[in-house]
Amino acid sequence: MNNLSKDMKQEIERLVRDLNYHCYLYHVLDAPEIQDDEYDRLYRRLKGLEESSGYVLPDSPTQRVGAAPLDKFERVKHTEPMLSLGNAFSHEEVREFEQRIRRYLKTDKEIEYTVEPKYDGIAIELSYKKGILHKASTRGDGNAGEDVIQNIRTIMAVPLRIEGNEVPDSIDIRGEVYMDTGEFEALNRMREEAGEPVFANPRNAAAGSVRQLDPAITAERNLHLACYGLGAFQGIEFTGQWDFIKWLEKMRFPVPFMLRKVKGIEAVVDVVREIEERRNDFTFEADGSVIKVNQFSLQQALGVKTREPRWAIAYKFPAHKGITQILAIEASVGRLGTVTPVASLKPVQIGGVTVSNSTLHNWDEVKRKDIRIGDTVEVERAGDVIPHVISVFTDKRPENAEIIVPPSECPVCGASVEKEEGGVAYRCIGLNCAAQVQERIQHYASRAAMDIEGLGEKNVELLYSRGLVRHFVDIYRLTREDLLSLPRFAEKSAQNLIDAIEKSKSTTLARFLYSIGILHVGEYGAKLLARHFNDIDDLFRVQEEKIISIKQMGDKTAYAVAHFFQDSKNIEVIEEMKSLGLRIKNPDFKAGTMDKGHFQGLTFVITGTMPVPRREIEGIIEKEGGRASNTISKKTDYLVLGESPGSKLQKAQSLGVQTISYEELMLMVKKGTGR
Ligand code: IVH
Repeated sequence: MNNLSKDMKQEIERLVRDLNYHCYLYHVLDAPEIQDDEYDRLYRRLKGLEESSGYVLPDSPTQRVGAAPLDKFERVKHTEPMLSLGNAFSHEEVREFEQRIRRYLKTDKEIEYTVEPKYDGIAIELSYKKGILHKASTRGDGNAGEDVIQNIRTIMAVPLRIEGNEVPDSIDIRGEVYMDTGEFEALNRMREEAGEPVFANPRNAAAGSVRQLDPAITAERNLHLACYGLGAFQGIEFTGQWDFIKWLEKMRFPVPFMLRKVKGIEAVVDVVREIEERRNDFTFEADGSVIKVNQFSLQQALGVKTREPRWAIAYKFPAHKGITQILAIEASVGRLGTVTPVASLKPVQIGGVTVSNSTLHNWDEVKRKDIRIGDTVEVERAGDVIPHVISVFTDKRPENAEIIVPPSECPVCGASVEKEEGGVAYRCIGLNCAAQVQERIQHYASRAAMDIEGLGEKNVELLYSRGLVRHFVDIYRLTREDLLSLPRFAEKSAQNLIDAIEKSKSTTLARFLYSIGILHVGEYGAKLLARHFNDIDDLFRVQEEKIISIKQMGDKTAYAVAHFFQDSKNIEVIEEMKSLGLRIKNPDFKAGTMDKGHFQGLTFVITGTMPVPRREIEGIIEKEGGRASNTISKKTDYLVLGESPGSKLQKAQSLGVQTISYEELMLMVKKGTGR
């Protein structure tokens, strides 16, 4: 710790406390008290102080991001096994659950229960020691899972520390990490556009995001958490589930939505019914309700039977699935020209909603699943998610069922459709394809992009058809009078849209790069670029190699970005937008990241016991542009020597390879010396 004055220490501690509080208000209570840019300002101040002093608290919000990607996850054993749940498929089976409990306990006293939604995500155990989060693991086989703490830390609702006068010596808290259905749809749309495989449901998307070797990707996924279970603990007492959940709330953990405590099984059935009636309004996907005996002493008495507790059960909602027939398969054109197959279905009721369309994702999938017009198919709808076809009943196939192939011409503009090299996407190459242009404008104005409220599908269609907006740059030329001449606008709505457009003129580089629709650049890619390039002008005519050198940036994306900014037409458009008042700030920029690192071209081998996990050291070496290898050769530049080294030391000596200690390595990083 250098340069740490008492004042600085206090300021760091205060900033960590304040930022964590605002993070809790925003991500757990959904009731922020400060603006995002104020949060960012405090965050940057903290980051600066931490860098100059080296004083970093374990619960500092800066510790949520920036960990290096892993090669694999470590296995962790759960102190108490993570159980699964038995199922009840009807209210009658819920009543039988209580009868079994009564028989087992030989009691007819009234029993208290908690009831809550069953979140469809991935179960996680969070382990706290002396209040500090030190481990986070997946359920795995119930006895042992994988240590995914790097990824779990990026979830903003996960407390990095528990504070107050009720902090136990140690506690394992279980909960579900999940993705909101809206978030899931947006992610899949992005993946579809980028020609990447889509996730089948929010559960797979959440699980895939948690079991990601690169925490930077998890961080972009906007995952949520609901805590519902207790594992091993020491130094605290709880009387029951309700008591425990109330403690969790006090400790600022997110807990299940609509959680209730009731007496007697009939009251349970009422809550189960209520949750089911409201499930379509949830922002997340729930596949049932979980019913638990409240009192821990009763839970103990009931115990576990073959990995399922006798004291809890899941009431499963009828699946959101239906069987229907494919009437037609049409090609729909997206903003980047991606031509995707969409099925029109014979209308079918699924979970109270009439479904008449279903996405088929991409043409390879149509072929793989052998989906034909006239086929009888099983369709699934999860929450408000766009329904998709799960399976085909080939035995019900009519004789003349038509095989569908990707169109060779765009159904909207007639230009040719070409398959992306090495990908699954088919694209319309028409430069002025009306479908693409409108989709692009719509994307530009959408929430995650420039966020221009009032510029949705209908208005874009109208503005386009009247020739007022033929490119997103035209948005900034719209006047109130233009809008008032249209049927859909009155004084107030016209003014609102003009105000929203004006507001969008002040934006960030990450948002802007995402908005302008560069092939393969999603929100994550845009953020990465903004981290490495301070100003949009720095991207003009950029060399592909420079973008490839950004770690985590894919080759396809790098090529697309370079290609985009080498086109002078695109640069002209951006210049024009600037002259129309667009102002781009870049709070994401991290100075120095575009330098190649101090260890460029150097190879390191590590041997012996290190003071920190080996993969952490490898991460540091790689971040500095070096290579961490396992075998000593003439090409090795440094052997990093720990305690009780093995045969590698002898080999290094015989080859004349220089040896350094971990401390010396860190000094090289700090001083910026390589050779
Ligand atoms: S309680 C013994 N509560 O369901 C208690 N589980 O089928 C076990 N789940 O692995 C967990 N929401 O991933 C509980 N509110 C909730 C839940 C929930 C989702 C998942 C969890 C568990 C699986 C059991």
